Amino acid sequence: MSFPKDFAWGAATAAYQIEGGAGEDGRGPSIWDTYAHNKKIDLLRNRMNILNGDTGDTACDHYHRYKEDVQHMKEMGLLAYRFSISWSRILPEGRGKVNEKGLKFYSDLVDELIAAGIEPYITLFHWDLPQALQDIGGWLNPEMPDLFGKYVKVVVDALSDRVTYWMTLNEPQCHIIIGHIDGECAPKQRVTDRQGFYLIHSILKAHGKAVRIIRKYAVKKPQIGIAPNPSAYYPSTDRKEDVQAAKKMAFGITSRNFWCSTWWLDPIFLGCYPEDGIHIFGDDFPLEMIKPGDMEMISEPIDFLGCNFYQGTEIRADKSGEPVIVPRKPGFDMTAFKWGVTPQILHYMPNFLYNRYQIPIYITENGLSMADWVSLDGKVHDPQRIDFMQRYLLELKKAIDDGTPVKGYFAWSMMDNYEWSNGYTERFGMIHVDYETQKRTLKDSAYWYHDVIKSNGKSLLIE
Ligand code: NOJ
Repeated sequence: MSFPKDFAWGAATAAYQIEGGAGEDGRGPSIWDTYAHNKKIDLLRNRMNILNGDTGDTACDHYHRYKEDVQHMKEMGLLAYRFSISWSRILPEGRGKVNEKGLKFYSDLVDELIAAGIEPYITLFHWDLPQALQDIGGWLNPEMPDLFGKYVKVVVDALSDRVTYWMTLNEPQCHIIIGHIDGECAPKQRVTDRQGFYLIHSILKAHGKAVRIIRKYAVKKPQIGIAPNPSAYYPSTDRKEDVQAAKKMAFGITSRNFWCSTWWLDPIFLGCYPEDGIHIFGDDFPLEMIKPGDMEMISEPIDFLGCNFYQGTEIRADKSGEPVIVPRKPGFDMTAFKWGVTPQILHYMPNFLYNRYQIPIYITENGLSMADWVSLDGKVHDPQRIDFMQRYLLELKKAIDDGTPVKGYFAWSMMDNYEWSNGYTERFGMIHVDYETQKRTLKDSAYWYHDVIKSNGKSLLIE
């Protein structure tokens, strides 16, 4: 039952969701500061941007408490920790003058992690674009890939003597689609489909630019990846027909939407946008946006594909083998966020992705929010998180047994944090955070995960 030797057992967070220290030591505002501080009712959605008007001003106060947090990670036995860097803490204006205090924070965090025996995995962009760059057009500004590259160079110069693992972007799909096309997250734009493609192309170019910079300047030989959230599907049964149908669904574009993984991953791994999607969008796919050299930059080789997986859609094959969505039955198992419990995605999706792109895979996020509180006994009992993770990890092992190179698993999240538009209402952590007192309490799942890590997965087997 053991997982592969050197499997990276970890947990993940992101800067705006945990750091706080929003106005401190020279940090500039990001689009999430602006979005969260706008407390007017959005008439289209009949609600404030963030539930309760919560902001990330203080969040988990990790900016001041990172040493304590690293000790908790050590207590949990984490071997790896994925965190993101706040661009506007490093470059308050998004470009130009470097904020040395901001850089020092991350440098100290890296030292602390290494001293605790925890491997740092850095995400360079987790949605918190500097507001100053949004003010010049954000990702629609053609300078953005270069500006991202310059920021990445500053980080690489400061940390690559100790950091090996780099992820360029977190869930670019959510950032671009929800933030710019649906307009329900920062920066709250509602652009046309054509502009949507310009945004996708721009952020993918930024990814490619960053890969080149890391490869060229990193001191330690880097391992470079990206952490998107591929749309997830799983077959009703393991019959060949159903598995093929689920795979077809995962990579086929049959309607006008931007979520299909191939919009995001084919350019990176195959060097082109998907033909079926281009056909569906017709004239709304702006072919003229692709300039000579762009696709080469976007498809600059990387070392791994990170995947954030939470829930998926069940698919079966109809008589002619075509995919059909199987609706969820009444009473389907749900997390607090009303996301379905669908562990099979960790078996099938890594297989599908490896089969198509031939690249080692990390699960860079997986987990659930639950209504956790501190019980009268002072502990936080979260049996459903344990059961959820156990189910998902047992499925992941099947992918490994099928021969898919899965290199690591990062639980979302190391601790409770700011769940974007849902503020502090969703608790995803294995460590409970009391936001009034900033007291941390390891949940039962943290101790359970400790044993999973220590046994390299053996303890997942049910006796
Ligand atoms: C995706 C995002 O990367 C992370 O920031 C978010 O909190 C979790 N998934 C849960 O929604």
